[in-house]
Amino acid sequence: MSALLTFSIPLLFSPLVWSGYLEPDQDVLMPDDWTRVGRVDPKQELQLTFALKQQNIALLEETLRRVSDPDSAQYGKYLTLEDVSSLVRPSELTQKVVHRWLGSHGIKNCLTVHTQDFLQCSITAEVAESLLSGSKFHHYIRDGQSVVRSSSPYSVSDDIHQHLDFVGGLHRFPPKGRQDYSKAYSIRKNRSKAGFHLGVTPAVLRKRYNLTATDVGAAQNNSQAVAQFLEQYYHPADLDEFMSLFGRSFQHLSQVDRIVGTQGAGKAGLEASLDVEYIMSTGANIPTWVFTIRGRHESQEPFLQWIVLLSNASDLPWVHTISYGDDEDSLSTAYMTRINTEFMKAGVRGMSLLFASGDSGAGCKHLDKENNAFRPSFPASSPYVTTVGGTSFKNPFKVTSEVTDYISGGGFSNAFRMPDYQVSAVNAYLKTGAASLPPPSYFNTSGRAYPDMAALSDNYWVVTNRIPIPWVSGTSASTPVVGGVLSLINDRRLLKGLPVLGFFNPRLYKLQGQALFDVTEGCHLSCLDEQVQGRGFCAAPSWDPVTGWGTPNYPALLAVLLSE
Ligand SMILES: *[C@@H]1O[C@H](CO)[C@@H](O)[C@H](O)[C@H]1NC(C)=O
Ligand SMILES: *[C@@H]1O[C@H](CO)[C@@H](O)[C@H](O)[C@H]1NC(C)=O
Ligand SMILES: *[C@@H]1O[C@H](CO)[C@@H](O)[C@H](O)[C@H]1NC(C)=O
Ligand SMILES: *[C@@H]1O[C@H](CO)[C@@H](O)[C@H](O)[C@H]1NC(C)=O
Ligand SMILES: *[C@@H]1O[C@H](CO)[C@@H](O)[C@H](O)[C@H]1NC(C)=O
Repeated sequence: MSALLTFSIPLLFSPLVWSGYLEPDQDVLMPDDWTRVGRVDPKQELQLTFALKQQNIALLEETLRRVSDPDSAQYGKYLTLEDVSSLVRPSELTQKVVHRWLGSHGIKNCLTVHTQDFLQCSITAEVAESLLSGSKFHHYIRDGQSVVRSSSPYSVSDDIHQHLDFVGGLHRFPPKGRQDYSKAYSIRKNRSKAGFHLGVTPAVLRKRYNLTATDVGAAQNNSQAVAQFLEQYYHPADLDEFMSLFGRSFQHLSQVDRIVGTQGAGKAGLEASLDVEYIMSTGANIPTWVFTIRGRHESQEPFLQWIVLLSNASDLPWVHTISYGDDEDSLSTAYMTRINTEFMKAGVRGMSLLFASGDSGAGCKHLDKENNAFRPSFPASSPYVTTVGGTSFKNPFKVTSEVTDYISGGGFSNAFRMPDYQVSAVNAYLKTGAASLPPPSYFNTSGRAYPDMAALSDNYWVVTNRIPIPWVSGTSASTPVVGGVLSLINDRRLLKGLPVLGFFNPRLYKLQGQALFDVTEGCHLSCLDEQVQGRGFCAAPSWDPVTGWGTPNYPALLAVLLSE
């Protein structure tokens, strides 16, 4: 625990003459599934996370562009956490002002991170409410889970405003597992009456993506990770059973290398089992970490905890897959912008972050009585991560070509501009597909378009609580599969003495679909209204906002990615 420093420079604090909201556009409504159960005891300790303003963000972005662009002389020249820290660390002034402000409220229990751009402080509710004007902390419960959040927005005085990006622990609620799964599942069950195949297993995936028995990890220092933020955990015995049932045809590990965070007790979760079992089946024999970040305290945001952790550990796996997302419109611009900076910090260090594109197709937001629009999800819509969509087999009884899985999340961000690396691919789609595009009022053609890639996402077998379960579906299945494939490519690169792939998108888009199985059929779901009648975007040759560039053909992809 690092105590607050004392500062000799006198700083003048005018009494609250003017104050401003750090996150004026943050949704503070309680999600439907939570119940508010009363005010927090004023003496209760809360854990709040202060995101301090960083320096050199433009340079960070430029560095990311260079180290991820295969045509740049800096390609693969990754930074250490130390380097990142020297680059973005908040200015002396920012650090002093924030420490002084917290100190003046008697707040002393703060932990910092290596990059000094986050402070996590333990603060009583009454002090937090005076520090952050407008905040009002309540208890909320959902299915036995209990959190503390503020029911109203917070502001800080003007002299502090310019030194902070946001304060975490007030608004965003923990995610719900398999949010859209039950809905998709019921439609699926209907379809399955037409007949359905044996299901997706590691052997099916390895066959489809052309992984032979010897395509398994061998490099010394390679590793991969899955991150989970739910009130659930994976059970080592499930992984073991899964591998004995489904792992006979390839060399693999049957144990997780490291668990970061606290594993709960009780039943295993489907999501947790799925992620671990499948990243370890395509990224076979590669040491795997599991981050289970549930938020140790009721006032913590689990996803933010993981983000903070990335800035405080120098030795982390190269590939991370994350099945988590929120509606972009429910999050503040300040929060998303800062999270993007955190993704850039990971990217310049050579880490590949893969996010599931979501399970509600293009999504739907009701604007008013008559009008709807698609609803992008974040971090899927971040320009600084690789987003993975979903597919199904065209012939459900055979390991053949793939078509769109209609749940596959995809679309255009309303918050982030289209990054340079995808402009020509996306514009080509918009131009050639013009006739079949949804009405322009439903989406924003100037935004970051996703997903970038895809993999099968339908009818997986998962072992959970020692029972093999069929029909598990969603982009949370396809994401660890693609993660494992990229990990294998990293493995071969490491063996050749080449740097890992890092932030993959600039290189992926330069491949123009080469070495990927293009998915060209099917549409994903969206608003059930008269105008679009449940149809979002449709797959097309080359890149599309349903399946990205398509699914991996491992040997071909390895061949093109083993050069430099
Ligand atoms: C970051 O790591 C250091 C030492 O490794 C530790 O003292 C500190 O508490 C950590 N910070 C947080 C926010 O956990
Ligand atoms: C299920 O199938 C029936 C007949 O095949 C169809 O009428 C109905 O609309 C379908 N339901 C859903 C939810 O797709
Ligand atoms: C990979 O799989 C496809 C389809 O299953 C097949 O046509 C191809 O020959 C395989 N091998 C390579 C190296 O692409
Ligand atoms: C692997 O890491 C260890 C230390 O963790 C280091 O000594 C060794 O040189 C590394 N091996 C390779 C192949 O990079
Ligand atoms: C469209 O996206 C841009 C960013 O790319 C944003 O500035 C603009 O506000 C968005 N428009 C709508 C209607 O959301």
